[in-house]
Amino acid sequence: MTDAKRDAAEKAIDYVEDGMVVGVGTGSTVAYFIDALARIKHRIAGAVSSSEQSSARLRGHGIEVIELNHAGQLPLYVDGADECDPRKCLIKGGGAALTREKIIAEASSKFVCIIDPGKRVDVLGKFPLPIEVIPMARSLVAREIVAATGAQPVWREGVVTDNGNWILDVHGLAISEPLVLERELNQIPGVVSVGLFARRPADIVIVGGDTPLLL
Ligand code: 5RP
Repeated sequence: MTDAKRDAAEKAIDYVEDGMVVGVGTGSTVAYFIDALARIKHRIAGAVSSSEQSSARLRGHGIEVIELNHAGQLPLYVDGADECDPRKCLIKGGGAALTREKIIAEASSKFVCIIDPGKRVDVLGKFPLPIEVIPMARSLVAREIVAATGAQPVWREGVVTDNGNWILDVHGLAISEPLVLERELNQIPGVVSVGLFARRPADIVIVGGDTPLLL
């Protein structure tokens, strides 16, 4: 799998144009992208980062990390995913960075998603859906999710997001209508963000590996 991730990340460099501020996601696939970006760092204006982890890697390569508030609309966002369906709707948040990832995806004109073939699914939900919650609302949100979906929320104990919040991973979903579920879960008080990227799916998906694909 590691080679497929690296392969997808390397191909995403084709979408980087001179002078760009590049939106950068989080995870092991994105780590390869950051390493590849370092080779052309003199050609870009900097990066907007979705996590402390990615910021550290970017800075380690001498790439300037720019605040989203100072960058305006971004031309390009590159990020991985935990699952990707045929409509390019995604589950993200395995690395607990979903909220900042969602913000940067929304602020970007083009979202290029880089995955290995194992991330492709017909129906989202085998990977437990991450939801970032305000800590005091953890139990309330979990109860409301059970009532609304019948699925099983599990607290990712010990994990605190970069925003100081907690994560619930929702097991047992089969998400045939990602946009509907994203909207519904977003209504629960205490939910900061839902790791479903349906309102703002990927624009382009690069699947790395022996038979690389562009979706
Ligand atoms: C982090 C994410 C990642 O993009 C997702 O978990 C995929 O990670 P990896 O590239 O390590 O498989 O959403 O919050």
